Amino acid sequence: MDASAATQATLLERIWDEIREHKLESFIAELDSKGFTVIPPELACPGNLGERLLAACLDVAERRNGEPPDLKDGSSHANFKGHLDKFTGTADSPFGDLMQSLIFEDQLFEKALMNPVLLTLASYLCGYSVVLSSMGCFMKGPNQSSFALHTDTPMPSPLPPHSMVCNLTYVLTDFNRKNGATAFVPGSHKWCRAPEAHESNPDNNPHAIAVEAAAGSLVVWHGNTWHGAFNRSRPGLRVSIPVYMARPYVRSQEGLIGEVPQEMLDRNDPRFAWLLQQGLSYGWSSQDDAIARVEHSSPHVQAMVAYTGETRFGSNTLYG
Ligand SMILES: [Fe+2]
Repeated sequence: MDASAATQATLLERIWDEIREHKLESFIAELDSKGFTVIPPELACPGNLGERLLAACLDVAERRNGEPPDLKDGSSHANFKGHLDKFTGTADSPFGDLMQSLIFEDQLFEKALMNPVLLTLASYLCGYSVVLSSMGCFMKGPNQSSFALHTDTPMPSPLPPHSMVCNLTYVLTDFNRKNGATAFVPGSHKWCRAPEAHESNPDNNPHAIAVEAAAGSLVVWHGNTWHGAFNRSRPGLRVSIPVYMARPYVRSQEGLIGEVPQEMLDRNDPRFAWLLQQGLSYGWSSQDDAIARVEHSSPHVQAMVAYTGETRFGSNTLYG
C-alpha cells in the first residue's frame, strides 16, 4: 500500500469507527438503500436537545418577526407569504418562513452543528472535510402549497453517484403527512438525475412518501435524493432546522469566510472553524485580497492538520 492509499484507509477507518461508536450501522444501511434515514431522538438529540432547539427557534422567530409564533394553532404562520414568496409562484410559501443564518443567533446552534452523530453521518456522506453550507429554520403553519420534489445537489443532471452535498434536518415538531412532512422518493439517489417537471409534484408522484419522524429526530439524506414537502393540513406549526452541508469545493449557500467572530471560534474546537469555512480561501476579488484570504485560512488548515493528524488536510486531494 502506498502512502496516499494508507492515508485514505485511515480516513475511512476514522469514519467507520465513529459509525460503530454511535451505533449508526443500521441507519447507514438504510441511507445507502433508500437515500434517507431517520435517526431517533434518543440518538440524535440526547439531553432534550430537540426541545431546547425548538425553544431557540421560536425565540428567533419572535425577534425577527416582532410577534411570538403560535405553536399550538399555527395562526402566526397560516398561509404564510414570506420574503421569498415572489420567487415561488405558489399560492403561499411551500416551506413557510425560512429563517436563514441561525449559527450566529444562539450558542445552542453551535452545539447542534457539533453534534457528533450529525458530524459522523455528514462525514460518511461527504468526507471528513465536509463544511457547513447553511443552517436555517423552516417554520410552517397550515398552508396550501406542497414543496416540489428536487435534489439538493447544486448542478445539472447527470449527477455524480456520490453525495456532493447532504442534508441533516433536525425535526423539532412531529412529522407526518398531515403535519406537512418532508416527502421522499425512496431509492431515487441512485438515479443520478433531478426530477422532470411532470415528476416533481409530491401529491401526484406515486412514488413519493411522507417521512414519519418524532420531534427530536434527525432526518438525513443523500444530496441526490428526490425530496420536497407536503402541505400542512392540520393546525399548529411544523418547525425544523435543515443543516445543509457540502464538500468544500462546492459553492456554499452562506458565505462565512471572515464573518465568524473570534470568540465563537475560541469556544469551539478546530473542526468548528473548518466547518464554518474558515479554512477556505476562494472568492477573492484582487491579488491583495487573495493573499489576505490565504493568510486567513492557513492557520485554520494547520489547526485541522494537528487536530486530525491528517497531513493532507490542506490539499485538494482530500476534497474528493
Ligand atoms: Fe432540498
